[in-house]
Amino acid sequence: LHVVHVTAEMAPIAKVGGLGDVVTGLARACLSRGHKVDVMLPFYECIQRHYIKDLMLISTYSSYFNGDWVPTNAYRGEVSGIPVILVEPSNNFFKGQSVYGGSYDELEAYLFFSRTCLEWMQVTGTQPDIIHVHEWQTGSLPLLYWDMYHDLSLKKPRIVLTIHNMEHYGECRQEQLSKCGLDGSIYATEDKAIDDRTIGHNPERLSLLKGGIVYSNAVATVSPTYLKETLCSGWLASTLIRNRDKYYGILNGIDTAMWNPATDIFLPAAFDADKFQGKKICKHFVQRGLGLALEDSSSGIHQVPLVVCITRLVAQKGLHLITYAIQRVEELGGQMVVLGKAPDGRVEKEFEGLANLHNQGSSIRILLMYSEELSHMLYAAADMVLVPSMYEPCGLAQMIGMRYGAVPIVRKTGGLADTVFDIDDGLQPELANGFLFEGIDHGSLNLALDRAFSYYREKPSEWTATIQKVMRVDNSWNKTAGKYIDLYNSIRVEW
Ligand code: ADP
Ligand code: GLC
Repeated sequence: LHVVHVTAEMAPIAKVGGLGDVVTGLARACLSRGHKVDVMLPFYECIQRHYIKDLMLISTYSSYFNGDWVPTNAYRGEVSGIPVILVEPSNNFFKGQSVYGGSYDELEAYLFFSRTCLEWMQVTGTQPDIIHVHEWQTGSLPLLYWDMYHDLSLKKPRIVLTIHNMEHYGECRQEQLSKCGLDGSIYATEDKAIDDRTIGHNPERLSLLKGGIVYSNAVATVSPTYLKETLCSGWLASTLIRNRDKYYGILNGIDTAMWNPATDIFLPAAFDADKFQGKKICKHFVQRGLGLALEDSSSGIHQVPLVVCITRLVAQKGLHLITYAIQRVEELGGQMVVLGKAPDGRVEKEFEGLANLHNQGSSIRILLMYSEELSHMLYAAADMVLVPSMYEPCGLAQMIGMRYGAVPIVRKTGGLADTVFDIDDGLQPELANGFLFEGIDHGSLNLALDRAFSYYREKPSEWTATIQKVMRVDNSWNKTAGKYIDLYNSIRVEW
């Protein structure tokens, strides 16, 4: 198979959250099974160039936008063994200091990007079996394909859309679609309408994600539980129900080449499930580096659990529970580090306030930044990883945490419910690997924190066994990439 991912993110060169991790991990898993894979993404000005090997210009062509043909360059390179194609238009799209939030119209930029990737395939005669698009950003590619490219030379590809988060649906106006050359007929027909409301046609409120669902050959979301949740609620539920026969829930994996405590270059000491003394060195390294109190060896190692929470600071992630946990962990005599970036100024201010309040003390650190290196060190240092999300399509933080020997404390929703099984409920002792809570109130989280702290302090040998157990859980793409490959094979066209 030849698979081309068309995506807004790829780890580590342009990563904001889990989407970037998934693209890299799935691409690597497919490559290692002998398939050909390319990842196409915008050549962001902020891209982390030092991770790209053998970068070279491979084509210069033009892409349509708003009545003009924009000169565009395509570069080829390699990112940790994965072939990438970076597309660079000569206008101001994708300029700026961050992946998202530049001073250009993001919606138009990604519409442009989706079309220019098809244009590039056409001008270079590239005929992939599968084009795999992700989220609303490239959700318009299937529309553009069926409207403009399928009856020309690009006959072969079948398109898979993965929805990582249904909340972002790429609301756009008809006028913006027209700028990319869509003539309107494709989205205005009754059964294929991509309006963001199911009744009537509103040209001011179209949804690129809905367009992707309707026009892709297959649609996946990132966990079986999230699939069920999205069929029951949200304004896209009826669209998904209508497209149920091509809608799949495939659990994400983690890229175990990138996330491996035995080889991780960011760690002061290596460790694995058999030899995990290195984990203690990592904990002390982080405690010392952040100025947290070092454990008093006379009181034994099992007194001061370190909880980490590594997350985008957005409502989805349960902000009120994160702030509550900060206070509660301190009361319980533990330590907590939050590593988070807030895209919203108001949330940033709130957490800055908390940082000012706590960061001088010896038990809490709130670090308002994005740092890949620090994230690796924190997962390695942590005794527990907290993911108190309001909803979570899949969640990678709990899986990465487990691989680094941090026991997860998570809210039972979406992919968290598919990957974490409660130690105390006795239902599936062989799977039990963490602590779950269901409510969205402080009390529910408090119970889970209390249980985790008691287990840590009162049952040190069981805790040690749990660390080994969570490190051995296979959350890698080895387990689930095969499902994507089966899906690709089921829709591919022989040529
Ligand atoms: P989401 O995609 O919704 O943000 P996931 O749990 O799927 O949530 O993935 C988040 C990814 O982003 C993980 O790899 C996590 O370690 C990383 N991450 C989140 N916030 C930060 C941060 N501030 N610094 C470094 N890495 C972060
Ligand atoms: C989204 C979701 C997250 C998921 C990630 C990768 O950002 O919020 O739950 O793990 O995509 O699929």
